[in-house]
Amino acid sequence: MLKKYYPAFLKEIKKFLNIKKDGIYIDCTFGCGEHSLEILKNLCVSGKLFSFDIDNESLLINSRKIQDPRLNIINSNFSYIENYIKRLGFQKKINGIIFDLGLSIWQLDQSNRGFSFLKNDLLDMRLNKNIGISAMYWLNNANEKDIFNVIKNYGEDYNAKNIAKKIIFFRKRTVLKYTQDLVKIIKYVVGARKYIKSLARVFQSIRIYINDELNSLINGLKAAYNILSSKGRLVVISFHSLEDRIVKKFIYNKTNMNFIPNIPLTDKQINKFYSTKMINLGKYKPSPKEIINNNRIRSAILRVAEKK
Ligand SMILES: C[S@@+](CC[C@H](N)C(=O)[O-])C[C@H]1O[C@@H](n2cnc3c(N)ncnc32)[C@H](O)[C@@H]1O
Repeated sequence: MLKKYYPAFLKEIKKFLNIKKDGIYIDCTFGCGEHSLEILKNLCVSGKLFSFDIDNESLLINSRKIQDPRLNIINSNFSYIENYIKRLGFQKKINGIIFDLGLSIWQLDQSNRGFSFLKNDLLDMRLNKNIGISAMYWLNNANEKDIFNVIKNYGEDYNAKNIAKKIIFFRKRTVLKYTQDLVKIIKYVVGARKYIKSLARVFQSIRIYINDELNSLINGLKAAYNILSSKGRLVVISFHSLEDRIVKKFIYNKTNMNFIPNIPLTDKQINKFYSTKMINLGKYKPSPKEIINNNRIRSAILRVAEKK
């Protein structure tokens, strides 16, 4: 039997979003729907939930388990939430928004799109096959410098140069087609003893690039802020430092509080406090018990802020 899947911070989502029974919430990353289900459990009949996901195939399969008139599922990049919510007439009425970034367990284990280096799938890596180019196309056509830059900047892997070189060498002889082709190249460059971390970094870097994930996140955060109501909560769960840095910077810029307030506050500090746009409610990591239930969330970081 399949082990039950627990996304990060499932049971704490009510507390972080500060869910009001008749509130309006957005789940920007529906995935397998567990966070959405948890939000719905805490709403009364007049509450509302809008759930977004860019992955049309995943939505088709994973939305089947929730039939609920309070839920509205939208197949879109979360960069566009502001347009949808404005059109629906809920601008600045949203009580809480959650982003649970990265890949769902379904995408990793069952989408057959080449996200997992443990399988041997075609190298596609698009979150939605109708958008953009596949990893296979890019890996077989990009120049060495671009491949190096992606692996270095989005994977932060110190073997980036040699891996990029080896990819070019490989594809002179044959098409780089499957995940295991890429695994072979990385293993060859890094050595059999230390290659697991590099695999994770290189696969991550290509996925981020192919789906333009960091720009989507930047745009999604800005849009989320614009549609939140006063005292609305922003909750973001990220899985690597590139995402977390963006979230941290976004919240710090809105909170403007780069000092530890002491009592009494100086006039300058009071003015600064009144000019802030959000209150930073902190950063959290999963508990050891949560990690036992789902080891894949061990690197998760949750940040929460409240709009003033
Ligand atoms: C970690 S999973 C979310 C899991 C979900 N919280 C649950 O309870 O099952 C991340 C999901 O976000 C989606 N996603 C990633 N980037 C997105 C974007 N820019 N816009 C919309 N959805 C996105 C992915 O397709 C994936 O389904």
